[in-house]
Amino acid sequence: MAMIAAKCPQYRVTVVDINERRISEWNSDNLPIFEPGLDELVKAARGRNLFFSTEIEKGIRDADIIFVSVNTPTKTFGQGAGMAADLQYWEKTARQILANSDRDKIIVEKSTLPVRTAKAMERILNGNQGNVKFEVLSNPEFLAEGSAVKDLENPDRVLIGSRETGEGLKARKELMDVYANWVQREKIIGSNVWSSELSKLTANAFLAQRVSSINSLSALCEATEADIEEVAYAIGTDSRIGNKFLKASVGFGGSCFKKDILNLVYICRSYGLNEVADYWDSVVRLNEWQEKRFVLNMLSNMFNTVAGKKIAVLGFAFKANTGDTRESPAIYITRGLIEERALVNVSDPKALDNARLDLKDIKERVEFIEDPYRATEGSHAIAVLTEWDIYKNLDYKRILDSMVKPAFIFDGRNILNHRELFDLGFNVFAIGKAPLKHF
Ligand code: UGA
Repeated sequence: MAMIAAKCPQYRVTVVDINERRISEWNSDNLPIFEPGLDELVKAARGRNLFFSTEIEKGIRDADIIFVSVNTPTKTFGQGAGMAADLQYWEKTARQILANSDRDKIIVEKSTLPVRTAKAMERILNGNQGNVKFEVLSNPEFLAEGSAVKDLENPDRVLIGSRETGEGLKARKELMDVYANWVQREKIIGSNVWSSELSKLTANAFLAQRVSSINSLSALCEATEADIEEVAYAIGTDSRIGNKFLKASVGFGGSCFKKDILNLVYICRSYGLNEVADYWDSVVRLNEWQEKRFVLNMLSNMFNTVAGKKIAVLGFAFKANTGDTRESPAIYITRGLIEERALVNVSDPKALDNARLDLKDIKERVEFIEDPYRATEGSHAIAVLTEWDIYKNLDYKRILDSMVKPAFIFDGRNILNHRELFDLGFNVFAIGKAPLKHF
């Protein structure tokens, strides 16, 4: 919404939410999330044509176009628990829109939703036989955290799904015109609503599948002394494969990949497509295995015990340039180490507040230390779990001198200079590479 406000001064954009604290943060100098470039964007438009408010009913009444961006987490109860999307917030919002509208409106699904949700929404919105008509569009979001502003400013595509009726196409065009203020027309794609809804889940499933594919082969590389970066480079130069999303890692995290794939799996099962469901489910299973494998690798290389040993975790966010820790591999790995009775120092430049919440039930065994030098002091091993730039250029000689020997470093993101670290005296274990050890 900040990008729309910035690019379209002729529109008045109001963001409403029930969470008063969140709204007041959006109105303050300290925005509630860290995202490069977002502060400048919000500050430029706020008070001009971008407003944050808790007056939801008024916001609904005044709007011609409503983007519904409520969360659709994985259901934790009842039918489909652990798999399906929980649509209660979506439905409540639809009913609230219905109760507060006295003229026609376009409703845009921005939340990630199961295919055919728009139909249900349309039934709720247009079921009361009143004179107010709602046109429901699907306009999934493809931005990635950490590069959100860049992605929005220059998207690969904008996807807008609508009914293929006269009214549906008219609404589709109206939304296309909003984006056309800064996005080239040929990048604004129209489709039917179901294709649009399904494309969102499919895009994330394909991206996650690439990460799981390369991670699966990282294990084979470790066993055979092939090097996963060389393999990724070699296959990525094939223009049909492409070189993006081929970085082997400790596993993918984030609030979307796992949730969206499980949702896709659930939908496939509900149509009796069990082979399709199993195929996509394996992407998530492989990711869980990769996280587990990382802990087991640490354990076996550290003489089969980490009990009582101090381990420094460098990076807790699910990726660099964000403070977000949702589904971060670091959560699972830290817990795995704690189960083995290790003492863990967690360090991260932006994610420590979230890390404290994620680990609050085991907080007596974890210390949260932002300074990487202090976090690694006296430790037996370092695990690099987020690819923050600052970890690439630390003074590793100084760090090694402060550690217990033999000192281990497990690079879960392949961002360090492994040969140099080995020459300094570290035993180095990277993803998808032969270990470099002094014993
Ligand atoms: C993802 C998609 O990339 C966005 O297009 C989508 O809009 C978004 O989900 C969403 O549905 O909201 P995001 O979760 O922010 O975006 O982050 P990604 O950059 O996709 O990374 C996801 C995870 O995969 C991270 O943990 C990252 O470290 C990992 N990853 C990514 C790898 O391990 N290797 C890679 O080569 C790429």
